[in-house]
Amino acid sequence: MKILLVGNGAREHIMAEKLAQSPKCEELLVFASSMNPGIETLSRIYHVGDLNDAKAVRAFAEQNKPDFAVIGPEAPIAAGVVDELEEAGIPCASPTRKLGQLESSKSFTRALLEKYHVPGNPYFRIFKSENGLAEYAQSLGQFVVKADGLHGGKGVLVQGDHFETVEEGVEAAKKFIESDGSVVIEEKFVGQEFSLMSFVDGESVVDMPPIQDHKRAFVGDKGPNTGGMGSYNYPLNLPFLTKQDLKDAHEITVRTAAALQQELGRPYKGVMYGGFIAVKNGVRLIEYNARLGDPEAMNALSLLETDFVDVCKAIIDCTLDRLNIRFSDQATVCKYVVPEGYPTNPRKGDKIEIGELPGGVKFYLASVDQRTDGLYMLGSRAVAFVGMADTIEEAETLAQKGVESVSGPIFYREDIGTAELIQARVYMMKKLRG
Ligand code: GLY
Repeated sequence: MKILLVGNGAREHIMAEKLAQSPKCEELLVFASSMNPGIETLSRIYHVGDLNDAKAVRAFAEQNKPDFAVIGPEAPIAAGVVDELEEAGIPCASPTRKLGQLESSKSFTRALLEKYHVPGNPYFRIFKSENGLAEYAQSLGQFVVKADGLHGGKGVLVQGDHFETVEEGVEAAKKFIESDGSVVIEEKFVGQEFSLMSFVDGESVVDMPPIQDHKRAFVGDKGPNTGGMGSYNYPLNLPFLTKQDLKDAHEITVRTAAALQQELGRPYKGVMYGGFIAVKNGVRLIEYNARLGDPEAMNALSLLETDFVDVCKAIIDCTLDRLNIRFSDQATVCKYVVPEGYPTNPRKGDKIEIGELPGGVKFYLASVDQRTDGLYMLGSRAVAFVGMADTIEEAETLAQKGVESVSGPIFYREDIGTAELIQARVYMMKKLRG
């Protein structure tokens, strides 16, 4: 098969690796926004263009005739790349623009869950002007300001973390109304966040292992929000979650997929990535994404034992129920190295070198440029290192060796996947749930 992959970050690097590894993949075609040397070596044709120009992606696909396509990031999905490809007769293992509203419109998803009585929603209201906004926010106690549209991980502001007073929250909400036309004000949850990503074909929902991401830039969950500094999974389940938590999260995704079909008259195909939070009395939905998470893709796809091409085909053909999707029951830890100053004022154009790596460590390139004399950072997350082993301790040690091998003006979070950090989260949940 000829397969088209859209995107060029570390998430797409591991997607490319998994697709290219399949004996069924004859040619990998890539439409990217910049040169990712890791992906480029895996592909037969590597085209650089605007990922969000749906017509340009369609023209590339019509010229090269892939059997199917899969999209990495959210923006091309929101820009209607899948709609254009499907119109050209190319099936996709990713959702159309309308179905992708699950991620691209926070108000759409909150209203959908409410309309179809899907559990997991917070108290919320959608505002198109500031009328009544301050009063509503105050009535919630602590609240969250959520931009309606896509903001590259910077659209969610939580009281106590990103702002303190109601006035500050209202000011932020007004800016989101200006940029997006509306804003969601919702109740703040207290608990532990986790990502449960599921393959969805419109009828079946197959969960990947639960994973925990780390959004804050610095050790101890300090500093500004980032795209995600790293993530880990634990064999079988995260230690602060119960089996019932996973069942509850799965049920929310199953019911949301059914609601999407009823509301939009078309089955959702692709990945539904639930950002959930385990709270005192169950599980709540923070948000959905319409794609694999980054960095979570590095954990989930490292663990995936089933041929990824078969998974994509089953999503398209609505045959997930006939595919035995298996994941290794090992632990993985992913740590990103990022340029000094990231995310607020990142250094750009610095050279890095990746040193010798022990067996069991892999790396995936993100925002880097390959020049004749080496790798240069472009200003965002640069390289993701993944350790995989039978225990979380071993996996963390491996990922740490990976990030420590890099020389250059970088930093990373050494606490991701460590016993100390995980125990603190287990303790927090124990205290919360009594
Ligand atoms: N892990 C954050 C994201 O993929 O949006």
